[in-house]
Amino acid sequence: MWKRHCCLVSIAVLCIFVGLGNALHQAYANVEVEGRPDQLAKLPGELKFVHVIFRHGDRTPVDPYPTDPWNNLKFWTTGWGQLTNLGKQEHYDLGKWLRKRYSSLLSSRYSNEDIFVQSTDVDRTLMSAQSNLAGLYEPQGEDIWNPAIKWQPIPVHTTPEKDDPILAAKAPCPAYDYELASLESSPEFVALADKYRDLFEYLSEKSGRSVKTFLDASYLNNTLFIESLYNMSLPEWTNKVYGHEELTYAANFAFAINTYTRKLARLKTGPLLKDIFQRIDDKATGRLQPDRSMWIYSAHDTTIANVLNTLKVFELHSPPYVACITVELRIDDHNTPLVSVFYKNTTAEPLPLDIPGCGPSCPLKKLTALYQDVLPLDWERECKRSTMMMTYEEANLGAATGILILIIIALLLASYGLMIYYRRRNYKLYTSYSQMA
Ligand SMILES: *[C@@H]1O[C@H](CO)[C@@H](O)[C@H](O)[C@H]1NC(C)=O
Ligand SMILES: *[C@@H]1O[C@H](CO)[C@@H](O)[C@H](O)[C@H]1NC(C)=O
Ligand SMILES: *[C@@H]1O[C@H](CO)[C@@H](O)[C@H](O)[C@H]1NC(C)=O
Repeated sequence: MWKRHCCLVSIAVLCIFVGLGNALHQAYANVEVEGRPDQLAKLPGELKFVHVIFRHGDRTPVDPYPTDPWNNLKFWTTGWGQLTNLGKQEHYDLGKWLRKRYSSLLSSRYSNEDIFVQSTDVDRTLMSAQSNLAGLYEPQGEDIWNPAIKWQPIPVHTTPEKDDPILAAKAPCPAYDYELASLESSPEFVALADKYRDLFEYLSEKSGRSVKTFLDASYLNNTLFIESLYNMSLPEWTNKVYGHEELTYAANFAFAINTYTRKLARLKTGPLLKDIFQRIDDKATGRLQPDRSMWIYSAHDTTIANVLNTLKVFELHSPPYVACITVELRIDDHNTPLVSVFYKNTTAEPLPLDIPGCGPSCPLKKLTALYQDVLPLDWERECKRSTMMMTYEEANLGAATGILILIIIALLLASYGLMIYYRRRNYKLYTSYSQMA
């Protein structure tokens, strides 16, 4: 009896040990395989849909400054502002990462009913999207069309920048320009720019290019940043400013300006957010046609900063190459659509963002209500400014003169027409009277 008891106890103890050992092993294996605690499993609900917005990869300087010793295409053989081989590799790697994270959403074979890819109409973002897709969709099975090429074509859609209010956000919007100009001439802003005046003057003098705004300073900082990445020695004068807090802050601050007020955010980023929220709602209610699972947007550092700032989660910084925002939709057991936003700006796993007033997993209804102030009802109409609201200088005097001349011509023509009409009428009256007579 005692012996049997003992036996049972030892079997139980053994079981616990084996079980524990297995569990531990499993946990370590997970950490080893994934290299992280499983973020996806932590959030409530099942992952259904994702929007991915990323910045292009490593590129050459867009426009070096006049006194730049590296201002010569012989140092940058791919041309100005172009994606480099490093940039291609970075995006290929991000594509591989997306494949791993979203393997439950995407079939391993490409289908246009799974994914849609949109890029701004700029070489480096188009090429980044293509490099990314090479990682995301390495051809499998019947899609292998040439065994020597581990790549297949995947469509990347684009719109000319000046016609694109959504991703490039460069379609004309006079109300936005007016709002931005008012911000920049506001006492708060003028006082801030004043604090940087000495820096801006120093940069202008040394670079041979006028630096008047935070954006000008940011561009210059960016050229220096790229050259230092490429181990090109920077001129002596840069030692006083480059890498120092003042210039770095000015360069970072430039990213907050485009969406500084809620109105600016609404007109700049509103159309993109509105599209994303609408599509998430369509997906959650079974109305998305085709019923895709992933949307990719290939864009710029400004896009990343604008989206984060419009969502009120931007911590002032310059978004690095391949920085990536994911907007994930999960559906929980009660059929509630839940939205989470992640930011991945290093090669490590992404940070889940705390949506202000809602947390890391936000019901879609609440999310839409929280950001109602930045979702335009009719963007085109909101972008218009009536002449009544303009100051004397703003109203385009050339156009006004043109309109005035047109009105005068119209009045002249009208009075000429009336004159002829009355003459004829008098003539008719006259003739009819004469007939009566
Ligand atoms: C400005 O330079 C700093 C390094 O000094 C860098 O971290 C930052 O990304 C740069 N910003 C831009 C816009 O290039
Ligand atoms: C620049 O130098 C660093 C350190 O020596 C090196 O790791 C890096 O690869 C170099 N970068 C380039 C683009 O040559
Ligand atoms: C990454 O993002 C976090 C959160 O916005 C920010 O605080 C940090 O400065 C960023 N780092 C880089 C290298 O971009």
